[in-house]
Amino acid sequence: MRLSDVAYGVAGRRLLDGVELTVPAGRSASVMGPSGCGKSTLLMCLMGLIRPGSGTVEVAGQDIMRLSARGLAAHRRRHIGMVFQFGELLPELTPAENVMIASLLAGDAVDDARSRAEKLLADLGVPEAAATQDLSGGERQRVAVARALVNTPALLLADEPTGALDGEQREAVADLLFSTPREHGCTLIVVTHDASVARRADIQLRFHEGRLVSAQEER
Ligand SMILES: Nc1ncnc2c1ncn2[C@@H]1O[C@H](COP(=O)(O)OP(=O)(O)OP(=O)(O)O)[C@@H](O)[C@H]1O
Ligand SMILES: [Mg+2]
Repeated sequence: MRLSDVAYGVAGRRLLDGVELTVPAGRSASVMGPSGCGKSTLLMCLMGLIRPGSGTVEVAGQDIMRLSARGLAAHRRRHIGMVFQFGELLPELTPAENVMIASLLAGDAVDDARSRAEKLLADLGVPEAAATQDLSGGERQRVAVARALVNTPALLLADEPTGALDGEQREAVADLLFSTPREHGCTLIVVTHDASVARRADIQLRFHEGRLVSAQEER
């Protein structure tokens, strides 16, 4: 993926001000920065859910700003997996259905979608029988990770994926996330407040005055 000279303002404030970011397939990047600096906004630009005022956004070899609304939605379903900051699961569906829905929307067969969803949830240690609304915060977050992975996306985005997890679970989720670029050749971008998670990324960045700068030489 590639962001070039991306600018985006909200309520008279320039949140993104010339963001440059290139992460090749098979590599990971982490983004840190204080609350409200624009980290989630940056991920929304990559998903095509908000349109920057200027600049280019390239995902899976496609300049997404050139796509129609319908083309953008299809491109997102096929190529992008997102772990949302607050999970965003549907409580009336089971955990497996919450994961399957992403692959069904991308056009996969039900049996195929179900078996991949169940395997991912088992790998992540989510109890099979529980209803989504009865899961703990950490278990919900792991379901959200499984949903983002189920389509083996070209671009995997994660917004604070370990925020609700204790030490051991945090390691398990981080292991799974950071193994995906190596195993599936996708690009991973993780927004985090956790320096130990950020340090696992190949490219470590932080926000500075609306841009991304390297965080590596500071550590
Ligand atoms: N539609 C909007 N109107 C006004 N302000 C907005 C709007 N959307 C976002 N903001 C503001 O933009 C800023 C950046 O929000 P964003 O969610 O990207 O922050 P963040 O870096 O992800 O923070 P956190 O670490 O708390 O998740 C915040 O101050 C937020 O209040
Ligand atoms: Mg955020």
